[in-house]
Order: sequence, then structure tokens, then C-alpha cells
Amino acid sequence: MTALQEPLVRTFFRQQHCAEYATYIGPREAPPVGIRLDREKAIITDSLCKQFGPIRAVDDLSLAVGQGSRFGFLGPNGAGKTTTVRILSGLLQQSSGSATVCGFDVAKERNKVKEVTGLLPESPGLYSKLSAVEFLEFVGALNRVGGEKLMRRIDALLGILGLESRQDDLLESYSSGMKQKVLVASTLLHEPRLVFLDEPTSRLDPAASVLVRDLILALAEETETTFFICTHMTSFAEDTCDIIGILTNGSLQVLGSPQDIVEQAGADDLEDAYLKIVGGQIDRESLLTWRK
Ligand SMILES: Nc1ncnc2c1ncn2[C@@H]1O[C@H](COP(=O)(O)OP(=O)(O)OP(=O)(O)O)[C@@H](O)[C@H]1O
Ligand SMILES: [Mg+2]
Repeated sequence: MTALQEPLVRTFFRQQHCAEYATYIGPREAPPVGIRLDREKAIITDSLCKQFGPIRAVDDLSLAVGQGSRFGFLGPNGAGKTTTVRILSGLLQQSSGSATVCGFDVAKERNKVKEVTGLLPESPGLYSKLSAVEFLEFVGALNRVGGEKLMRRIDALLGILGLESRQDDLLESYSSGMKQKVLVASTLLHEPRLVFLDEPTSRLDPAASVLVRDLILALAEETETTFFICTHMTSFAEDTCDIIGILTNGSLQVLGSPQDIVEQAGADDLEDAYLKIVGGQIDRESLLTWRK
């Protein structure tokens, strides 16, 4: 095998493991007593609004995300994506409107929402004096997963993400992409029904982004996990998500499959469609006017 082929082969085996991991997690058991599930919809928002003083960060957002969907949330900086995720994950109270996640009201049943969801926040914190394994054990314990089951999941996820040889090193010695991988793993450990990923591929190299995509696809297919993914990577969204919503100034502009959005915009791909819908293309002369 050539030096060039070797990483490709390793990546291929890791991709196989994504599917194996999802199969091993297997179909879900019946939900614990007290968990109410809309058979169809994992997220429903009705005229959701969030006001920060004069800024309307989320403006009349009505949305339904099907169970097992991979929903991609796109939009320019400041559009309101993270604010929506913070409301839906029970971290922030909306100003008006309502939302349910896995059947639980995000304002009134926050603890239930937190039990059934996983969250990769936009600016996560890590305990830098713990190793990756210790950190994941800690997160598992917080989510009441432990013992053999937890250790098997930690081993499998660290193996898939290519961190097995560094798993006992302190997180302070990790690169930013390695930390991001540990954080992605930490959102999946307790087998949440719905996972919020706020820019999961930021800091990841292209091969790691592909692995995260494959993990999402395998888990959605095998375990009906729903994913709500904020991203600026249109190609990642196009490959990973079955439904895309584009948000500008807190309002939903477009909702549909990547193919429908591309076709309706008369675009070549999702990036082209996004630029047509959101704007953002500035001619070269204007780009240089600041120098005058
Ligand atoms: N705690 C806060 N206090 C005041 N304004 C806030 C607060 N959080 C968010 N905002 C404002 O709400 C708007 C939406 O911000 P948000 O972080 O949701 O955008 P975003 O779509 O996630 O952007 P990005 O792509 O840059 O991550 C912005 O105008 C932001 O300044
Ligand atoms: Mg954000």
C-alpha cells in the first residue's frame, strides 16, 4: 500500500464503523414511561419569537421537523440559528410563540427536553484537565449512562473518530479539531432521540467532516435519531440533510429538500441557491472601495 492510499483505507474502515456503530446501538427500545412522542414530528414550533431589546433574533418561526430527519439550518451570521437552537434545547426562554421537542414543551418541560436531546453548542467548554475518556465518562454519568455499555460506546466512538491512540491524553493537549471530535462524541453517548449540532464541522478537516456526516446518516437511518444541524457548509448540508431551512433576519425564507431548493432557485448546487436566496455576492469594484 502506498503512503497516499493508507489514510484513504483507514477512512474507509472508519466509515464502515459508523454504520456498524449505528447497527450496534440498534433499533430503539420502547420509550420510557412518561415520554410522549408524536409519531411524526420531533420538533414543532408555532410563531416562535425571541427579542433581545430592539433586536428580533427569531421572528415568527413556524416549523415542523419529522422524526428521523436530518434538518439543516442555514443562514447568514446573526440570522438567529443559534438562538433557535438555544430555545429548542431548553437553554433560553422564547419571548412569544411555542415549541415542542419530542412532544415536550420547551418552556415548561425543560428537564424532559434535556433528557431526550443532545447538544453540541456553538462555543462549547471542555474540562482541559481531563483526558478524552475521562471527559466522556463524566458526560455519560451526567446523562445516567455508565458501566460496560458506556465504555463500549466510548471506545467505539473514539475509534471511529481516530482518537484511540490519544484517548488518555489530557484535552489541553488536543488540537481544536480533536476537541471538536470529542465534543461530537459526547452529544451521542446517551443515545438522544434528537441531536442539536451547532456548526459540527467547524475546525474539522475534510475527512473528519465526512466521518461526522456518515455517523449522522447511519444513526438517523438505524436508530431514527433526528438531527437539527446549523451549518455554513452548504456542501455538508447538501450531502447530509434531507430538509433544509434558510433563515434570514430571524425568518424562514425557504424550506425544502436540497434538490427542491436548488431546482426552484435555478441554481447549480446548494451554495449557488443559497447565494441567490440570501445574496452576498458583491462585485469586485465594491470590494475595493474601502481603500479609497
Ligand atoms: N444574548 C444576546 N443578547 C443580545 N443579542 C443577542 C444575544 N444572543 C444573540 N443575539 C442577537 O441575536 C441575533 C441572532 O444571533 P444568533 O447567534 O442566533 O445568530 P446565528 O444565526 O447563530 O449566527 P452565526 O452564523 O454567526 O452563528 C444577532 O443579531 C445577535 O446579535
Ligand atoms: Mg450561531
